[in-house]
Amino acid sequence: MGWSDTWKDILDGGNQRWKVDNLDAKKIALKHITDNTITSSARKLKILCPLAGDDKFVFHAWSEGHDVTAIDLVPEAVAAMRQQFGSSTDGWTSTPKEDEGLVWKHDSGRVTLYEGDMLKKRSELENSFDAIYDKDSYGALTKDIRPAFCQRLSDYAKDGATLYIEVKNKASGREHGPPFHVEKSDLMESTSFGPYFNHVTALGELYPLPMPGMQQTGHILKRMLRK
Ligand SMILES: C[S@@+](CC[C@H](N)C(=O)[O-])C[C@H]1O[C@@H](n2cnc3c(N)ncnc32)[C@H](O)[C@@H]1O
Repeated sequence: MGWSDTWKDILDGGNQRWKVDNLDAKKIALKHITDNTITSSARKLKILCPLAGDDKFVFHAWSEGHDVTAIDLVPEAVAAMRQQFGSSTDGWTSTPKEDEGLVWKHDSGRVTLYEGDMLKKRSELENSFDAIYDKDSYGALTKDIRPAFCQRLSDYAKDGATLYIEVKNKASGREHGPPFHVEKSDLMESTSFGPYFNHVTALGELYPLPMPGMQQTGHILKRMLRK
């Protein structure tokens, strides 16, 4: 099943798959990000959420005053994300970007939603983000797509930026996905984040999942300084 059909099924009330709508889980993520990134307590961050779906983290981080950019391929997922801000139309302006899909801007000036392919190079995002929130995005990708995905994240992160990443640890079926089983060694491969990020902390299990044999684990990585 492709991503578009997967989203149709989710939004029609079918299996909710990876979705975690519990606000406590979003608070845990944002706290890890701010603890690892903020040097002055007043500072608000520019946060990138790749392959975001309709993850409630975006609304939560925005409501805490941060500036958030999210990217997803599927228009219905991006519409569900906009709806969390009160309406999928009011308060939003969309601009088509040639062959790069649509860009939605929220009237607050602090939310940008890209409706398009994450792998597309977007020069306006280069060296822009203090932090990246990746929940189940890297872990949803087959190994052939990971190099381009990791390259994009490294392009868009500022020097020293925090990469907060949530991945699944699976008791069985580790070679099959999505979701794929992901450990520190996978993240730090030379075809993944290894050339661009240092591994800082393995956070262990973050919160319980209702799926037997699966753990939601986290890692903190830091963007190396550009030469
Ligand atoms: C496993 S889901 C994770 C969604 C979200 N991070 C969460 O945990 O709630 C993966 C998401 O990636 C999106 N996606 C897959 N390939 C993509 C691509 N090349 N560019 C942008 N989005 C993509 C899918 O539509 C889906 O919403």
